[in-house]
Amino acid sequence: MGEVIVEQTIMEGLAKISIPENVFYNPLAKFNRTLGVVFLYTLGSYTTRRDLVVADVMAATGVRGIRYILESMSLNEVFFNDVSKNAYKCILKNLSLNNLKSVSNVTSFNVDRFMSLYTGISFDFIDVDPFGSPLPFISPIFSNLRRREGYLAFTATDLMTLCGVHLDALNRKYGVLMVKTDFCHELAIRILLKNIFLIASYYDYVISPILATFENQYVRIYVKYSRSPSKIDLNKIGYLLLSEEGYRYIPYTNISSVSLSNSYLLGPIWLDSYFDSSFLSLMEANSQKIGEELGLTSEYKPVTKYISRMLIDDTSIPYIYRISKICKKLKISQPSIKVVINSLKAKGYKTYRSFLYPDGIRTEAPLNELIEVLRGSRS
Ligand SMILES: C[S@@+](CC[C@H](N)C(=O)[O-])C[C@H]1O[C@@H](n2cnc3c(N)ncnc32)[C@H](O)[C@@H]1O
Repeated sequence: MGEVIVEQTIMEGLAKISIPENVFYNPLAKFNRTLGVVFLYTLGSYTTRRDLVVADVMAATGVRGIRYILESMSLNEVFFNDVSKNAYKCILKNLSLNNLKSVSNVTSFNVDRFMSLYTGISFDFIDVDPFGSPLPFISPIFSNLRRREGYLAFTATDLMTLCGVHLDALNRKYGVLMVKTDFCHELAIRILLKNIFLIASYYDYVISPILATFENQYVRIYVKYSRSPSKIDLNKIGYLLLSEEGYRYIPYTNISSVSLSNSYLLGPIWLDSYFDSSFLSLMEANSQKIGEELGLTSEYKPVTKYISRMLIDDTSIPYIYRISKICKKLKISQPSIKVVINSLKAKGYKTYRSFLYPDGIRTEAPLNELIEVLRGSRS
């Protein structure tokens, strides 16, 4: 008698998904998948196309791609792939359960083999959702692109490395110098973006980030790529300088002129903004609209809220001060973050509330000015 595999069937969004115990499914990534639907819906309206072709190259149960078809209303065809034979069978079953066989292609290859075999297919969007780091898959993706432009998403779950807990691995794999900071999740996004940027550049592609998130132990990055080597600007990456005066950033090509006395150097990281705010505004409105149209408001509301938080942030300042941590060091009570932001703005410094940390701000103010405001704002 063969082995008995226990299966459960769940609903996620509009998708009915059967999950055998030998195929990966993470209920905590539901938010991440809902955000992906909103991204694709918005891409469809942005490009005035409802016939996008998508590759879900690490599909597991297929839940992500199935939700993309059922909820984004923008897709013509999805290519599902997973190296695991159990996942392959599971995807076929789930496509049947949702009556989607006619708009889908299912394969079971390594990502690099999949990309080289399907190099002739013009994917509008490729979703890369591995266990751990996406680094091994970035090069196979870019080396096999045949389009001049398109969209990619990468997930990373190797946060012990990206957040600097395993410093050796971070140096070795991502080529980054790191020190302990209070905003390692922000840096995880910027480190991964830097690596995507450099690998893309090697293949003559320039990337423009659209959004990046940190949630439930993963980082997720959406980028647009274009084959325009002349637009690759090395100064989109560079270093942070940490000193008693606070944080500064130094573009890549200026690094040789920097004096390091009493400072720590961290990087290279992505220095530029990682939000496309006009795309994000559309996503915010669409998220609410999809939730209402599909009767899934409880699923889409958290995504709308998250995007609203992103929209009040401005990631063109590549570092974050955590008010609670500074106040603790100064042994003072923590003032209202809104008061702190308004006081710094009144002094003429660009200042924003960070979407990543409830007590985080980005400000161009030097640390001594921020400390003065914190001391002065105490209630
Ligand atoms: C984190 S899971 C994907 C989860 C899925 N995207 C979702 O949203 O539920 C990663 C999947 O990648 C598959 N995988 C791992 N290495 C692979 C490779 N080199 N090529 C293709 N698939 C791979 C695994 O079998 C696993 O099913």
